[in-house]
Amino acid sequence: MNSLLPRSTGTANPPRQLRLPFLFYTWRFVAPRIASVMTALNVVILAAGKGIRMHSNLPKVLHPLAGRPLLAHVIETARALRPKTLSVVYGHGGEEVPKVMGGHGVIIWVKQEPQLGTGHALMQALPHLEPKGVTLVLYGDVPLVKRETLEKILAHGDKALTLLTVELDDPTGYGRIVRNAKGDVVRIVEQKDAKPAERKIREINTGIMAIPAARLAGWLKRLKTNNAQKEYYLTDIIALAVKDKVKVAAAQPEGPWEVLGVNSKAQLAQIERVYQAQWAYRLLDQGVTLADPARIDVRGSLACGRDVAIDVNCVFEGKVSLGDQVHVGAHCVLKNVSVNSGTVIHPFSHLEDAEIGCDCRIGPYARIRPGTRLDAEVHIGNFVEVKASQVGARSKANHLAYVGDTTVGKNVNIGAGTITCNYDGINKHRTIIEDDVFIGSDTQLVAPVTVRKGATIGAGSTITREAPPDALTLSRAKQVTVPGWKRPVKKPKGET
Ligand code: UD1
Ligand code: CA
Repeated sequence: MNSLLPRSTGTANPPRQLRLPFLFYTWRFVAPRIASVMTALNVVILAAGKGIRMHSNLPKVLHPLAGRPLLAHVIETARALRPKTLSVVYGHGGEEVPKVMGGHGVIIWVKQEPQLGTGHALMQALPHLEPKGVTLVLYGDVPLVKRETLEKILAHGDKALTLLTVELDDPTGYGRIVRNAKGDVVRIVEQKDAKPAERKIREINTGIMAIPAARLAGWLKRLKTNNAQKEYYLTDIIALAVKDKVKVAAAQPEGPWEVLGVNSKAQLAQIERVYQAQWAYRLLDQGVTLADPARIDVRGSLACGRDVAIDVNCVFEGKVSLGDQVHVGAHCVLKNVSVNSGTVIHPFSHLEDAEIGCDCRIGPYARIRPGTRLDAEVHIGNFVEVKASQVGARSKANHLAYVGDTTVGKNVNIGAGTITCNYDGINKHRTIIEDDVFIGSDTQLVAPVTVRKGATIGAGSTITREAPPDALTLSRAKQVTVPGWKRPVKKPKGET
C-alpha cells in the first residue's frame, strides 16, 4: 500500500527537471493534446459490472470517492479530453446509475443486458460512436487515471491501437501482455486462459486502451466466446490488430496507483487514501502547513493562501477557500465556506455554507450554519450556534448561545446563554441587534424583535418588544429575601 502512495511533488506536478527546459516540457504535454483535438474522440466508460464483492445494494460505480461517485471522477477526466461522444455502458443497478449521474452533462447511456464481457459491452456502444478517429475505453471503477496519462495513449491518434499497461510484482487476476522476441505486443491473455509460463508475465493490461475507430466495428464482429469465461473479450482485438498489421503500442502511467480498480470496500478505502495523499502533497507543495498529510480529507476543492496551517483530522467538503494565515484547528469540518485572512478556527468546529471575515476567532466547538456571514474580527466561541445571520465587525458571542435569523451590528457583545427565539412553531422571524449593543447573559430575544443602537439588556431578560437605544432594558422579577427562613433538615435515622 505505501509504495503506491504518491510521496513527492512528482505526482501532482511534472518533476522539477522538466520545468526548466520549458519548450520541451510544453511540447511534450501540449502535442498529444493537439493530436486528441484533431482526431475525433469517442470515450466509452465501461460500468456494467456487478461489483459483487462490494456487498452493497448501491451499484459499484456510485460508491463515493472523496464524496463523489467513482463514475463522476472518470467522467470528469474524460470530459477534460473534450471528446466528441461520451458513452457510459451500464447494466447492474439498472436506471439508478443514469438517474444519479443526471447532472453530469450530455452522456450517451447504453444499457448492456446481459453482461457478456468487455467486448460485448463495447458492441452495445458501437452504434452511438463516430466511426472515425479514436475510441478510448475507460473503466468506471478505475477513477484515479490522470488526463496526462490518457493523452499519452492518445498520442498516436488513429494510427495505432495503444494499450495502457503496468508491471506489477503480483499480476494475479489480470490479463497479461504477451510480446514477441522483438518486444512488440502480440496479444493479451486473460489469467483464466493463461498457460503457466504466461502467468509469469508481470506486464498487465489495465483495460484502458485507445482504438482506431474505423477498425473497431470489424474487430468486434470477429470476437468469439471460445475462452475460459465464455465471454466476448475486448482484449482479443489486440491479436486481430496484429493480424491486420495495425501498429499496437503500449504506454505506462506515471504511477501504478493511477490504474488501481475498485472491486471491494478495502480497495475503495485504499484508493481514497491515495486520492487524499495526492491532495495533501499538492497542498504541501503550495506551502500549506499540514500537521499530518495522512490526516486530512478534501471532498471537493480547497484553495489556500499563504501560510495557512491545518491541524489533524480536518474534513473539507464542497468548495472551501482559506485566506492567508488562516489556521484551522484539529477535528474541524468545513463545507462550502470561504474564510478570509488571519482567521483562526479552533478545534472541533463545524462550518457550512458560510462566509467568514478577516481575523475572526471561531470555536472551539462552534457551529456555523448555512447563510451566515461574519465580518472582520468577530469572535464566535464555544458551544455557540449561528444560523442565517450576519454579524458586524468586532462583535462577540463567546459562550453558549444560539443566534439564528439575526442581523447583528458592529461592536455587539452577546452574553453567555443568549438565545434568539426565532421560531414560533410555524414561521421563522428575524432579530435585529444594532451597533454597540450589550446583551446580558441568559437573555431570550423573542423574534421579531429589535434592540436599538447602544442598548444594554440586563441579564436574564426575556425581550419581546423593541429595546430603545442607549438605555438599559431588562425584564426580570424583583429579587426578594425572606428573613429568618430555614432550610428543612433531615431527621436522624430511627426517629419517626
Ligand atoms: C479486464 C480485462 C483484463 C484486465 C482487467 C483490468 C478483459 C477480457 N479483461 O478483466 O485484461 O487486466 O480488466 O482490471 O477485458 N464490464 C462491463 N460489461 C461486461 C463486463 C465488464 O461493462 O460485460 C466492465 C466492468 O464494469 C469493469 C470493466 O468492464 O468496469 C472490467 O470488467 P471486469 O469484470 O472487472 O474485467 P476483468 O475480468 O477483471
Ligand atoms: Ca476488475
